[in-house]
Amino acid sequence: MRMFRRSTPPHTPEPDPEAPVALVENLRHVYADGTAVDFGDVPLAVRPGERVVLLGPNGSGKSTLLLHVLGLLEPQKGSVRVFGRPAHTLPPEWRARVAALLQQVDEQIIGPTVWDDVAFSPRNLGLDRVDADRLVEGALRRLGIWELRHRVPHALSAGERRKVALAGAIVFSAGTRFGPRLLVLDEPFAALDPRSRAALLALIEELRHDHGTAVLLSTQFVHTVPEFADTVCVLAPGGRIAAHGAPEEVFARPEVLESLDIEPPVLSQLFRSLERRGISLPAPKSVEHAAELLAGHCRDGVCRLPDLSSGRRAQEEYG
Ligand SMILES: Nc1ncnc2c1ncn2[C@@H]1O[C@H](COP(=O)(O)OP(=O)(O)OP(=O)(O)O)[C@@H](O)[C@H]1O
Ligand SMILES: [Mg+2]
Repeated sequence: MRMFRRSTPPHTPEPDPEAPVALVENLRHVYADGTAVDFGDVPLAVRPGERVVLLGPNGSGKSTLLLHVLGLLEPQKGSVRVFGRPAHTLPPEWRARVAALLQQVDEQIIGPTVWDDVAFSPRNLGLDRVDADRLVEGALRRLGIWELRHRVPHALSAGERRKVALAGAIVFSAGTRFGPRLLVLDEPFAALDPRSRAALLALIEELRHDHGTAVLLSTQFVHTVPEFADTVCVLAPGGRIAAHGAPEEVFARPEVLESLDIEPPVLSQLFRSLERRGISLPAPKSVEHAAELLAGHCRDGVCRLPDLSSGRRAQEEYG
């Protein structure tokens, strides 16, 4: 695998706004030791501004897929296109529009201090000192790590290092010239505390608002996925795309998730359990949405309870 490093060109042409930002078709990868990952023939497209979440058990190929989208691995079969071009030969001026967080963050942190690391790309671009410093300060403050700026990255905690790598990835997002069009995040919430996870979700929404950024991320934090994702893609062991669609469609098939040892979001479980008891409501996206749906189910403080026969049926069926 080639080292990932952010590149910063002098001119950035606009990618075609109509084309999928990323498109993966018939991809198969065989590692040097013979381990094969085959994503099958279901295409995976990420459209402008779309939020796509990859779920899958350990070893199912999430990182392999993301490394292909980042152009760090080359397809042996099939194709991976980003902005309509093969990802592994993406011109640097378009590569600069892709912000990435690798699962192994240490592979992308190279500066001797946090400040130097986040400043790598602005310096590489030859921005004047004042502009570069402004971008670095903005990114450090956005990630809440301003006070870490003089620290040695490799002496930081796992969550702190992840924030440093994220700051480097989004360092241009305060300006308009190189705002990211595609954010590729491999397990971005791992090692982050709840407040930091919420802050990262808010940051992603800001980027989408400011730059129309599309997002492709992998995560094991399934509970926030219905609120966050437009599309969910579930990988089975070996890489096959086992389910693909809107969260409410994918999470309506718990048997697929359970067969892959993926726990459905807790709110999906709760609402399916209510359905078995005769209360049928739309799929909830968040705690707030679930509360609204349940409150709407009650009129004037009196809950419309299901008729007893359906409750009995549910009890007989599910115990
Ligand atoms: N460098 C490598 N050499 C050989 N096999 C590899 C290499 N990297 C990954 N693999 C194998 O490829 C498969 C997919 O691994 P990958 O890291 O993409 O899975 P993942 O879904 O990201 O897992 P996790 O949830 O643990 O991050 C696994 O069987 C893994 O053992
Ligand atoms: Mg992985």
